[in-house]
Formats: sequence, structure tokens, C-alpha cells
Amino acid sequence: MKKINSIDDYTKRIKRVLVTEEEIKQAIAKAGKEIDAMYDGRPILLVSILKGAFVFLADICRAVSVPCEVAFMCAKSYYDGTVSSGNVKITMDLNQDITNYHVVIVEDIVDTGRTLKDIVALLKTRNPLSLKVVTLLDKPSRRVVDFHADMALFTIPDHFVIGYGLDYNEYFRNLPYIAEYCEE
Ligand code: IMP
Ligand code: MG
Repeated sequence: MKKINSIDDYTKRIKRVLVTEEEIKQAIAKAGKEIDAMYDGRPILLVSILKGAFVFLADICRAVSVPCEVAFMCAKSYYDGTVSSGNVKITMDLNQDITNYHVVIVEDIVDTGRTLKDIVALLKTRNPLSLKVVTLLDKPSRRVVDFHADMALFTIPDHFVIGYGLDYNEYFRNLPYIAEYCEE
């Protein structure tokens, strides 16, 4: 993995925009309405998986009108560059009891599916009232375990993507759109 050491190098790694800021905005407004309809006034707990989903959580929580709390978990699967380690580690857990909550996991991307499969299995053992998964992006062609999100805003081909929370080596999370990363 090459280190980024100039603004030129940084810009060159943004290959092309896959999902625009406007497309994200519209999809989130629609998803917010679907979540409202699904829970019909019942309070929900939005659980964001850090770090990648922090931008999506910030927008989706403002697109729902049902009473909502937010919480964070931290899971690591990509330790280095663009290759999955195939090994999911929960580095920060929830600090609350979820037995009386309708939990909605908010994720940036489902790739191999391992992270969410593990997190869903873990949270189910804690007996929430219900548990659903909303992901911004879905890369179904990369799946190695059987996992389906309840809601996926965009299905994308097998490219490594950056922006809107997603990183390459911790960079690019602040891009307002989703772009394909340029491997050199
Ligand atoms: P999974 O366990 O393979 O489904 O993916 C877990 C995590 O890997 C995701 O939540 C992302 O944080 C990260 N990831 C997967 N694909 C990409 C990508 O294309 N760009 C950036 N991060 C990714
Ligand atoms: Mg993630």
C-alpha cells in the first residue's frame, strides 16, 4: 500500500464518481420515509458501525421522523489497503441493553458480508424487539457468506470505493460522493 504524500497523488486516486452527492441525498430521503413506514411511530435505535458509516448515520438519522436514538459500534475487517483480512473484530461494543429496542444497523457497505453476519448474530443473542440492517452500498458479487441487508440504497459492481465515510487507508472519508479508487 502506497502512502499518499502530495495533493496531486491524492487527487489522482479519485478515479471516477460512481454515486453523486445528489443521488445519495435523494436515496436517503426515500429510505427515511421507508423506515418511517416500517416502524410506524415506534421508537428505533440506529446503530452505526464505525468508522465507515458515520456520514451515512448522520444523514439517515435526519431523514427519519420516528423517535430515534443513535449508538455506535466499531468493527474492523480491513486492516490494510483494499484487501479484506477476512477476520472481524469488534473493537468497541454498545454500552446499553438493547432488549427493549427496535434496532436498525446502519452500515456503509456490505462486501464479503462477514462483518454484518457477525454483528447481526451477536446482537440477536441480546434479544432486541427486532433487528434490521440498512446499508448504503451493496457489492453482492463479493459475498463469501450468506447475508442480505433488509435495505440497500445502491448496488455497485466490484470496485473498491471511497468517499461518504468510506476510506482508503483512512483518507477520502470526507468526499461528499462515492468514487472508484484508482489503484496504481
Ligand atoms: P465485509 O465484512 O467484507 O462485508 O466488509 C466490511 C467493511 O469493509 C465495510 O463495512 C467497509 O468498512 C469495508 N469495505 C468493504 N468494501 C469497501 C470498499 O470498497 N471501500 C472501502 N471500504 C470497504
Ligand atoms: Mg464499515
